[in-house]
Order: sequence, then structure tokens, then C-alpha cells
Amino acid sequence: MKREMLRIEGLHKRFGSLIVLNDVSFNIYEGEFVCVLGPSGCGKTTILRIIAQLISFDEGRIFVLGRDINSNEEDGYLDDLSVVFQEPRLLYWRKVEENVKLALELKRGVVGDRDGATVREALSLVGLSDFADAFPHELSGGMKQRVALARALVTEPSILLMDEPLTGLDLRTREELQDEILRIWKEKSMTAIFVTHDPLEAIYMGDRIIVLSDRPTMVRDTLKVPLNRPRNRHDRRMKELESCIRELFVLPDYGCLEPDGIS
Ligand SMILES: Nc1ncnc2c1ncn2[C@@H]1O[C@H](COP(=O)(O)OP(=O)(O)OP(=O)(O)O)[C@@H](O)[C@H]1O
Ligand SMILES: [Mg+2]
Repeated sequence: MKREMLRIEGLHKRFGSLIVLNDVSFNIYEGEFVCVLGPSGCGKTTILRIIAQLISFDEGRIFVLGRDINSNEEDGYLDDLSVVFQEPRLLYWRKVEENVKLALELKRGVVGDRDGATVREALSLVGLSDFADAFPHELSGGMKQRVALARALVTEPSILLMDEPLTGLDLRTREELQDEILRIWKEKSMTAIFVTHDPLEAIYMGDRIIVLSDRPTMVRDTLKVPLNRPRNRHDRRMKELESCIRELFVLPDYGCLEPDGIS
């Protein structure tokens, strides 16, 4: 039986009169790469912000590594978890390495001598060793997102949350970074939650796909991707699976994806 890293039970969230999340539940297990797929505005970012304790929720329970995050006694769990946002959110006046170091400063308050090596290792992991001294404005969009990834990785989280981190990048950069993220996930044995609104991206990246409905949002289905890794983008089954997922948004039944057997 795999260890449960994250459990979300009956999550409800509204902003004023707008009901965004309407009973969202799912589990994520150790070492999985899970994609959360849903239409724009359905509340994907809201879910990640709630998990990262950046915003509150109205009803439901969330357990990270078995710990109830509503309980006041459970302060430390954020150490286990890092977030990469939709936009890189770099501090323009700090060099690349200092942007990455920021995550350590926020975590511990002070940064010691050894942390220079930790930061360099994170930059090397994302292929940016030569740009430690650059400022954000000297980087391309893809490189900025690599810095954001290094900043999330430098604290060595066991759970990495990614909120459409590749949106807005050109196709080639996007595909390159998809592969880098998969490589790092594997190398670091992390549990990854990757939000996207692109079914093909979810099929390429995910062990499982949690498909969300339109707002007010529920889990429409949870599906296992029946393809071995490494996956081939030109595999015709990718396209077939994409059609199946697209149909999920309009039809009650699906025929060609395996329903998830875990949760
Ligand atoms: N702080 C807020 N105050 C009021 N409404 C909000 C707030 N944050 C999000 N919303 C609303 O909640 C809904 C879900 O927003 P969210 O950003 O979670 O969607 P999303 O699925 O991430 O969309 P996208 O794919 O475009 O990023 C939207 O209708 C949005 O307008
Ligand atoms: Mg979003």
C-alpha cells in the first residue's frame, strides 16, 4: 500500500457569492506525478493556494502526510511542500542565485555558508549554473521559469505543486521543460501535482489525471494514463486519449481510459 501524501476531503470554497469549489475530494500517493486538469476559471489555482495555506477554505479537510492542516498544532508541514506559480514571480533586483536563496531565507530566517552549495546544486539541476549572477531581466521566459523551479526545489520538498508553470512559453521551450520537470521529479523521488488546462500536456506528464468540472467545481473523474515512460509525443495513443478526455467534459461516460484504481 502506497503512502498517502495528500488527502483532500469535501473541499468547498466561495469568493463572496461566487461558489468556486463545490465538494472537491482526491488523494495523492507517494512518488506519483498527478495532473490536475480543468477549464480556465474552474479553481485550479484556488486549490493549490489552499493546499499551500496561502488562502483559507470554507469546508472540508486537507491532510498533508497524514497531518490535518487545519489543526493549529501542525505548523511545520509547509517544509514538505513547495509551489511553482503560473508566473515566475522573481525579485528583479536580486540575482538569480539570490532569488533561489530567498526560499531558504524564508524557510529558516538565516542562510549559512553551506547554503551557497545548496543553491548552486538547485541551479545545476535546472541547467542554469552559468546564470547564477544574472538578473531576471537578462533571462528568457523559459529561463525565468527554471529559476522559479530551482527556488521551489532548493528546500528539498517531498511534494512539489506546479500551477501551469509552462503557460505562455513557446512550444519547444515548453516541451524541453516538460522533460526537465519529469527528469527532476524522478531524480528527486518527489510527489508532483501539476496543474494544466491542456489535456495533451496532462497525458504526457501524468501518472494520473484528476479532471475537474466547470464551476462550481467538482472532480469529474480521476484517470490513470495507460502509457509507459518515457512517453513518445508522437504516439497515436496520445491523440486518442486526448479525444477521450475532451469528451469527458461533455459526455457522462468514457470508453478508452482506465478509471483510476487507487482512490
Ligand atoms: N481572491 C479572489 N477573489 C475573488 N474571486 C477570486 C479570487 N481568486 C479567484 N477568484 C475567482 O475564482 C475562480 C477560480 O479562479 P482560479 O484562479 O482558481 O481559476 P483557474 O482554474 O486557476 O483558472 P486559469 O486556468 O485561468 O488559471 C475565478 O472565477 C476567479 O475569478
Ligand atoms: Mg490558474
